[in-house]
Amino acid sequence: MEFPDAARWNARYEASEPPRELSPPQVVSTHLADVGGAGSALDVACGWGDSGLYLATLGASVTLADVSEVALAAARARAAMLGVSVDTITTDLAADDIPGGPWDVITCAHYLDRQLLPRLAQALSPNGRLVCAIATITNLERHERPSARFLLERDELATLVPTLDVIHHSEEWRDNGVHEAWLVARATR
Ligand SMILES: C[S@@+](CC[C@H](N)C(=O)[O-])C[C@H]1O[C@@H](n2cnc3c(N)ncnc32)[C@H](O)[C@@H]1O
Repeated sequence: MEFPDAARWNARYEASEPPRELSPPQVVSTHLADVGGAGSALDVACGWGDSGLYLATLGASVTLADVSEVALAAARARAAMLGVSVDTITTDLAADDIPGGPWDVITCAHYLDRQLLPRLAQALSPNGRLVCAIATITNLERHERPSARFLLERDELATLVPTLDVIHHSEEWRDNGVHEAWLVARATR
């Protein structure tokens, strides 16, 4: 089945090369370095899979989810090169159920769907963590894209997951040149 967003994203991924180096968002490598072999992790809108593949190298049992099967095929090839195993699922996160779960960790990097975030919170296991890195509206001061509808308002991110306990929240220009909101939040139930 062809998802509405798939053709556009597949074309973008077909036109570029997967990065050679694994570079998860710093909020992921900083706050999830303790994820071990017992943990299950879902990386939504994973693209090339940097966050999920990083967690797989730590021993987590990882599922990568994206609408683009081209990106997922590249992520599987990267996993093979890293010597790790991951599951992948082609899904339209705007329309489909959250895959599987409950999850010990869910990562969401550079993808904003305001309806999705509370659904991700519901898919966490007790004490499970949601980790997000999403650009804010301030990013437009230096970059034309993403356009405003893909950007968070100031201090918005934590308000989209009100059922979670916030462990970390910050918004600033990051080393990647993007003004990002970072959130680490834990399920209390
Ligand atoms: C800007 S990229 C971010 C990729 C990756 N998380 C990262 O940080 O590099 C956005 C990703 O969202 C995926 N995407 C867009 N719409 C989607 C949808 N409705 N369901 C699932 N994935 C979607 C795209 O295929 C793309 O891989």
